[in-house]
Amino acid sequence: MAEIFKLGGGGQLDFDRATVEQAYDRWAPVYDFVFGGVFSKGRKAAIQAANKVGGRVLEVGVGTGISLPQYAPHLRIFGTDISEAMLRKAKRRINNLGLKNVENLAVMDAEKLEFPDKSFDVVMAQYVVTAVPNPEAALDEFARVLRPGGELIILTRISADAGMRRFIERRLQPVVRPLGFRTAEFTWSRYALWLTATRKIELVENRPIPPLGHFSLLRIRKAAIAVAA
Ligand SMILES: C[S@@+](CC[C@H](N)C(=O)[O-])C[C@H]1O[C@@H](n2cnc3c(N)ncnc32)[C@H](O)[C@@H]1O
Repeated sequence: MAEIFKLGGGGQLDFDRATVEQAYDRWAPVYDFVFGGVFSKGRKAAIQAANKVGGRVLEVGVGTGISLPQYAPHLRIFGTDISEAMLRKAKRRINNLGLKNVENLAVMDAEKLEFPDKSFDVVMAQYVVTAVPNPEAALDEFARVLRPGGELIILTRISADAGMRRFIERRLQPVVRPLGFRTAEFTWSRYALWLTATRKIELVENRPIPPLGHFSLLRIRKAAIAVAA
């Protein structure tokens, strides 16, 4: 497969929003075939968590809408993505399956969400955070648009620092690189720093997800507003 991302001087991937957008525009026709199965267990676990919270859901990086049929009918889902080609596939899926619980789809950058504060009961990001040029900016936006008491549900790759998993991750790196996954940079300490720096949120679950526990499901809750007695 053609190399889409260039390596910078420090060995890091150089990519910006436009490059990622173009990459996913190219992936769109074959995305479900290549990544439908491998990510399915994670998607199922994440959506079960969202269905328990209920209400209005923002799915950031909704892609081809592969997860949309799994949301409970009583939820309302708004899907966003930077790739128009991926969203076109999502739109087709919604129409073909007659999904009534999808409120809308929109092209939108995860780092600049065009919603007021506290708009959603759930913010869902499946396999997206490592594709965003500035992940902490996206995480800040997710927390901003979440209502107090709501849940941020993230499926993502968290890099190992050492051991067999580190070895496997290094072998997988060339495979996932064309998708914009920056495999070496996302150790747990980076999330821990963001969690510590962000007010009124707490980690409620960090569960390893197949394949090989290589991905994690993070559930982060925004503190509910205390009601005076
Ligand atoms: C690996 S795919 C995951 C798609 C889908 N969530 C799934 O589970 O299959 C990453 C998606 O994130 C989108 N994406 C990447 N960067 C983004 C950004 N800055 N803002 C919004 N979406 C972005 C891509 O266009 C792509 O659809």
